[in-house]
Amino acid sequence: MKSQKRIVVLTGSGISAESGISTFRDSDGLWENHRVEDVATYEAWLSNQELVLNFYNQRRRQLAEVKPNAAHYALAALEEEYEVHIITQNVDDLHERAGSTNIIHLHGELVKARSSKYDDLVYDIQYNEIKAGDCCERGAQLRPHIVWFGEMVPMMEEAAYIAARADIFMVVGTSLVVYPAAGLLRYAPDHARKFAIDPKPLPVTGIPNLEFIQEKAGIAVPPLVDRLLKEVKH
Ligand code: OAD
Repeated sequence: MKSQKRIVVLTGSGISAESGISTFRDSDGLWENHRVEDVATYEAWLSNQELVLNFYNQRRRQLAEVKPNAAHYALAALEEEYEVHIITQNVDDLHERAGSTNIIHLHGELVKARSSKYDDLVYDIQYNEIKAGDCCERGAQLRPHIVWFGEMVPMMEEAAYIAARADIFMVVGTSLVVYPAAGLLRYAPDHARKFAIDPKPLPVTGIPNLEFIQEKAGIAVPPLVDRLLKEVKH
């Protein structure tokens, strides 16, 4: 029988780094040669729609070329024994492709487009482009289904609710500087065991029950998952 325990995993771009996707803040503040403000804000969309569409079309093309890595697969394997919730800041689909089934995308999804006017009109576009002139069924331009800086994070409330009910909370590959997502670790109950995995030191002082593992995700996540799976089996 599965453990009744609930594991909540907050992931960021670092978990996809070993798959070949750039992180946001490891390269002089540039993201794939662009300043984040030029491509990932609502103002950018209003002032240079073509640039923003091209940028995300490129990201989607790149996503079609990469694969999940050992860390994504290990997290999927946790579902054999635990109730697992992945809360990711990533817009890639590598958790899905690795087999995780319970995923909240806080910052949206590259493989979807949505109407720039009617928020509830969301379309699965896989790795295809969005072009100027591509419209929703009600005639408004399609945009990437991405939460840009300055926009609301619609899934945040549900994510906070899930984090507050964690027995085990893991943080993998996020610098924990972008709010509100970064605050989720502090929603985890004091008694929950917590693990943070990142090759660089993180701002995690004052968090009770936290074990920090300073290592790359592909190296540290699989043995940690093995450890947690063995705890249930014994
Ligand atoms: P960051 O670039 O801020 O942080 C990436 C983290 O991954 C850093 O702490 C790195 O040390 C770590 N890292 C690098 N390689 C790693 C590896 N192999 N294994 C594990 N960790 C590794 O990216 P995020 O925290 O994801 O938002 O950024 C949060 C948000 O800011 C993003 O979702 C995005 C961005 O602007 C939006 O686009 C709205």
